[in-house]
Amino acid sequence: MTTRSLFLLPGDGIGTETMAEVRKIIAWMNEAQGAGFVTDEGLVGGSAYDAHGVAISEGDMKKALAADAVLFGAVGGPKWDNVPYDVRPEAGLLRLRKDLALFANLRPAICYPALADASSLKPELVQGLDILIVRELTGGVYFGEPKQITDLGNGQKRAVDTQVYDTFEIERIAAVAFELARTRRNAVCSMEKRNVMKSGVLWNEVVTATHKDRYADVQLSHMLADAGGMQLVRQPKQFDVIVTDNLFGDMLSDIAAMLTGSLGMLPSASLGAPDPVTGKRKAMYEPVHGSAPDIAGEGIANPIAMIASFAMCLRYSFNMVAEADRLEQAIANVLEKGIRTGDIMAPGCRKVGTTEMGDTILAEFKALSA
Ligand code: NAD
Ligand code: IPM
Ligand code: MN
Repeated sequence: MTTRSLFLLPGDGIGTETMAEVRKIIAWMNEAQGAGFVTDEGLVGGSAYDAHGVAISEGDMKKALAADAVLFGAVGGPKWDNVPYDVRPEAGLLRLRKDLALFANLRPAICYPALADASSLKPELVQGLDILIVRELTGGVYFGEPKQITDLGNGQKRAVDTQVYDTFEIERIAAVAFELARTRRNAVCSMEKRNVMKSGVLWNEVVTATHKDRYADVQLSHMLADAGGMQLVRQPKQFDVIVTDNLFGDMLSDIAAMLTGSLGMLPSASLGAPDPVTGKRKAMYEPVHGSAPDIAGEGIANPIAMIASFAMCLRYSFNMVAEADRLEQAIANVLEKGIRTGDIMAPGCRKVGTTEMGDTILAEFKALSA
């Protein structure tokens, strides 16, 4: 029997609550479908800090590196606001991305038909929305050196973060965007700020050259990232694939998330390069949202982003395309039936908590799989 190894890192806050719903789906797929998932679990973020004094232990890093795929919940929270910078909860997430070399972060923003009313934009602007943000994830200002605060000795301090991109980093993320565009509506919009940043100049140059050399069949446009943010809320359906750097991708994907109704809806896949021998990619699947300290522990978080992240895992790590389609369909059907967590609640709908939303999606998934 095929075995598929999954390493679960629920993390903090609502990360643990939403991961519980994915665990049920995994258990059912093993039982009823012989899916062969072998799971192990670890600690990341504040929960790892409380247990080990670090944001992720070496043992858990090893397990993450060895697994076929990692499922990540969320990290962070006010409890750890004052821990040393190097061991703050977010450092665990950044280390996973860097050490697993997950340079390509795919953040689809799809507006389910039933949720057009939950968006902060007019329904006609988001109805049918299906865009994919391809965010560079292991470079840029997140990781560039120097990154420090120095005391200038005159009562002043100086903080430095460094935005760095090499040609190969831009080329490989552009290639991912072009490849994915070919499976969709064949259009890529690249966003940077070449008007003020040297890294933007190189970004634009390399994306243009990669397009000309290898992907001339794909439609390519360029936008300054600030204008891109404006266009995302003005006319979001003009976009198919957006490719952008680590920081702009972080911000633009939160904007895109709200177009779909709630941050609680947006999944993501973080992928490495295929192994030259086995063709396998390292991968981690994580919702775009954080640990939501304002609602953590209340049992009301929306588990859809986490469940949809697992659907992406089925699709990208295990090539279980039919199962991924069915799980996404199950989510759509449940929304269609008017079942809602608080963040996407609308008049006439039935409000449920995290567990009931998870159970209802699982029941629908079972029905579709029968
Ligand atoms: P957040 O995403 O945690 O929350 C923003 C808002 O969206 C909150 O009002 C929250 O209640 C709501 N929300 C988010 N996910 C939801 C869900 N599934 N269901 C219902 N409502 C949801 O962002 P924040 O408040 O800026 O950050 C809180 C902590 O999370 C910080 O420590 C931050 O660093 C961390 N964070 C972690 C990740 C991650 O682990 N991938 C991502 C973003 C932020
Ligand atoms: C995200 C988060 C992370 C990021 C934080 C928690 C490090 O906001 O995944 O979008 O900035 O990348
Ligand atoms: Mn973010």
